[in-house]
Amino acid sequence: MEKLRIAVLASGRGSNFETILKNIQTGKLDAAISVVISNRKSAGALEIAMDNKIPAYLVSGKQFPEQRDFDDQIMELMEKHGANFIVLAGYMKMIGKDIVRKYKNRILNIHPALLPSFGGKGMYGHYVHEAVLNYGCKVSGVTVHLVDEKYDNGPPIVQSCVPVMDDDTPESLAARVLKEEHKVFTEALKYFAEDRIEINGRKVIIKAEQQNRIRKNTPTDQKSTRTK
Ligand code: GRF
Repeated sequence: MEKLRIAVLASGRGSNFETILKNIQTGKLDAAISVVISNRKSAGALEIAMDNKIPAYLVSGKQFPEQRDFDDQIMELMEKHGANFIVLAGYMKMIGKDIVRKYKNRILNIHPALLPSFGGKGMYGHYVHEAVLNYGCKVSGVTVHLVDEKYDNGPPIVQSCVPVMDDDTPESLAARVLKEEHKVFTEALKYFAEDRIEINGRKVIIKAEQQNRIRKNTPTDQKSTRTK
């Protein structure tokens, strides 16, 4: 599998993007961030990208009111910077059908709850955590999932739980979930980077690491590595 060259699409502070970037920089994840695109000028994610000398762009609905033009602009920037994978890291705008089709099974989103609960239109940011608390849930969590043409609908790749405490506020729950988000986003990307993902309908199967190593270390592979 080709190395993951990621286009990060983010609308907000960018802590998920920053964590993924750190994990790449420290060798925990074998991938590259090719470009960062935001629909909000004030997005912290753009600043983080610029500080790290990663190409950063604003592509807003104001500049491109037609969804098709908007999508074309994103795909053009991705091509320009050689991106082959998309990570939606707190991206608050729907991406269009053309992008979803072109990058089928190569677009990940992170949602701060256990889908299919507390997802869909209008379920973002503090609304998610408020709804979880109002329902009286005992656990919440995070879902990293493939993106399809509907909101928060694609099959999950990784889900992880956190407890809900009796005295939680939306803010305290959000903070606990965010900590978990930072772990599982990289974990999900690692599975793609290591070519361990098998998609069977709605089921995403993560192949065992060992299985993969065995495949990579066949005698023929070892021989060709040595002679290089
Ligand atoms: C995260 O909670 C993510 O789950 C949601 O938006 C938030 C983005 O946070 N989709 P950050 O911008 O990555 O800090």
